[in-house]
Amino acid sequence: MKKTTEVETVILSVGGSLVVPSAGIDTEFLKNFKKMISKHSERGLRFVVVVGGGGTARAYQNAAKKVVKLTRDDLDWLGIHSTRLNGHLMRTILRDFAYPVMIKDPTRPLKNWHEPVLVVAGWKPGWSTDYVATRMAKKLGAKILINLSNIDYVCDKDPSKFPEAKKIKEIAWQDFRKIVGDTWDPGMNVPFDPVASKLAEQCKLEVVILNGKKLKNVDNFLSGKKMIGTRIF
Ligand code: UTP
Repeated sequence: MKKTTEVETVILSVGGSLVVPSAGIDTEFLKNFKKMISKHSERGLRFVVVVGGGGTARAYQNAAKKVVKLTRDDLDWLGIHSTRLNGHLMRTILRDFAYPVMIKDPTRPLKNWHEPVLVVAGWKPGWSTDYVATRMAKKLGAKILINLSNIDYVCDKDPSKFPEAKKIKEIAWQDFRKIVGDTWDPGMNVPFDPVASKLAEQCKLEVVILNGKKLKNVDNFLSGKKMIGTRIF
């Protein structure tokens, strides 16, 4: 990451499946994530951390589905509350350097945020945590959003279906949006929410897709070193 003289705000959209894979909460991930945030906070970066619902959301949605017929809103609210629980977990483990209140509405004014970390949860039905993260970037004038998922690179086609799919290291928003389309559905498997992509393009935000299972690589990016991942700008 390029160094600037002003305090740089990095938005981190953390895929919920990194924090809560299907096997349960990944405490090793949390320990290493905390170490990384602490290191880079000390060198002057500040972070907005938005966590997805991951296995928590799926467990609650699947359980409720077995008992009643769920509406899209029901699924979303279970997802939102899962992002709140996961966000609260993040706020707790990062409490030495996090703003004490978890943000639940990205449109509300933010007063007296001085700590290195701000934790933000899902907002309302119909959106995603990628979208909330992008809204926070816009609100705070951030230039960089890191999307932590479980892929090394965005590919031009789904690599699980097309073996000839090519890895993309850099791509313009215009071309990325041709790959992901315009609409978002909960549970859809895209590297970055298409609706969030539209907003990111409008705000001229750079989104970097990195594999959250390889936090050394994320650390390299934050340190301005060579990294594996896809830059969208
Ligand atoms: P995400 O889909 O953003 O989480 O939110 P994620 O981590 O990227 O995805 P998984 O969980 O690892 O697959 C989880 C769910 O919460 C609801 C949606 O239903 C979404 O699928 N949600 C989240 C909202 O409805 N509004 C929000 O603002 C955020």
